[in-house]
Amino acid sequence: MPSTSIPKDAAYQIINDELMLDGAPRLNLASFVTTWMEPECEKLIMATLNKNYVDMDEYPVTTELQNRCVNMIAHLFRAPIGDDEAAVGVGTVGSSEAIMLAGLAFKRKWQNERKSQGKPFDKPNIVTGANVQVCWEKFARYFEVELKEVKLSEGYYVMDPEKAVEMVDENTICVAAILGSTLTGEFENVKLLNELLTKKNNETGWNTPIHVDAASGGFIAPFLYPDLEWDFRLPLVKSINVSGHKYGLVYPGVGWVVWRSKDDLPEDLVFHINYLGSDQPTFTLNFSKGSSQIISQYYQFIRLGFEGYKNIMENCMENARVLKEGIEKTGRFDIVSKDDGVPLVAFSLKDSSQHTVFEISDHLRRFGWIVPAYTMPPDAQHIAVLRVVIREDFSRSLAERLVCDIEKVLKLLDTLPSPIGFTKEAHVAAISNETDQNKVKKSAMESQKEIALYWKRLVEGKKTGVC
Ligand SMILES: Cc1ncc(COP(=O)(O)O)c(C=O)c1O
Repeated sequence: MPSTSIPKDAAYQIINDELMLDGAPRLNLASFVTTWMEPECEKLIMATLNKNYVDMDEYPVTTELQNRCVNMIAHLFRAPIGDDEAAVGVGTVGSSEAIMLAGLAFKRKWQNERKSQGKPFDKPNIVTGANVQVCWEKFARYFEVELKEVKLSEGYYVMDPEKAVEMVDENTICVAAILGSTLTGEFENVKLLNELLTKKNNETGWNTPIHVDAASGGFIAPFLYPDLEWDFRLPLVKSINVSGHKYGLVYPGVGWVVWRSKDDLPEDLVFHINYLGSDQPTFTLNFSKGSSQIISQYYQFIRLGFEGYKNIMENCMENARVLKEGIEKTGRFDIVSKDDGVPLVAFSLKDSSQHTVFEISDHLRRFGWIVPAYTMPPDAQHIAVLRVVIREDFSRSLAERLVCDIEKVLKLLDTLPSPIGFTKEAHVAAISNETDQNKVKKSAMESQKEIALYWKRLVEGKKTGVC
């Protein structure tokens, strides 16, 4: 910390100037997280920045708005609650915190049951696909639960329900299915999982439940695929998380977790405090947090309603279609994502013998686009893809512009010598020689950096053509 103060406008200028070097959020196509909201909502955000959400007695209206949001989400996810019954759920900082809470509830419930049966309760596990988001790995490591991952394969990038159910044993606290895989946007087949797991539970006498990680899909499926059964309509689905700051259309960070019923959230995980006023139940990892995101979520719900969310999601799907068709037309890519799911386009190079998707990602940065490239998890780590997430503020004209810029990059790469000698070696060696997933990721990242450096040296002073 500096020893002396500076004028406020100088402090503002210094920081504002430095922040100019960040990427432009709306061109950040790597992220599912909302980058645009209406000015009216921004006004509400500014007006509530100084409210600590946890002061429920002091800000009872904010608490009430949170409860209304939980109720609306629970109804959207078809929780079996009566008209005058309150839903069981809580607002969080994002899906990660929501998943930690849901995971803890499963762990505690399983432990309580095992204790009551006089059985060991020290080796809990969760069954997931290898495509789970890193927050599941965090949960497993932080809360000492083994993560049993169903491996992927080329062309199949989600959890196979049959393999998942095969991996379930008496120590499985839940099977986690993803509605909208982070890697490809694909919805996992929760209905089939529910069927297979019900059969296994009946055969074994176990009671293994399902959690649905609907971080992205939770605000898509109810509007676009109302007949798709993935939610509390399926009896084994006991809890669901969703990110308010993704397709809930709120700035970061807000997430939600909703339980099927009171019985699915062990009472001994809920703390009761009274020093801020009346008795307040709290079940979150953090204590203090801002209120603005909760208020923004409520704004979006009443402002857009079902109709508004449906229109926005349909529009996103349409823009994803335009982008997908443009990318297909180049003739250079295979589309890895599916048409139904989260509106995103994931695509891999048909021929990566000369150049890689990592180079394309680097070159697109020069046009301002942030498009991530990554390798798939085991056993599909030899597939490398680019992924573009379509958000509300990504218009059709931006989709067309991006296709144009991808074509420019392809043309440029065709004129450049291939750095593939060492790149390919690094990439292939990473995949074939190392079984450890972290090492694979590291090697891919190292090779990506090497490509960028190599390329920068080569094209210094060169101009790109027009599309
Ligand atoms: C499927 C899935 N689960 C969980 C998360 C973590 O969500 P959050 O960033 O809201 O913590 C993500 C983030 O992309 C995700 O895609």
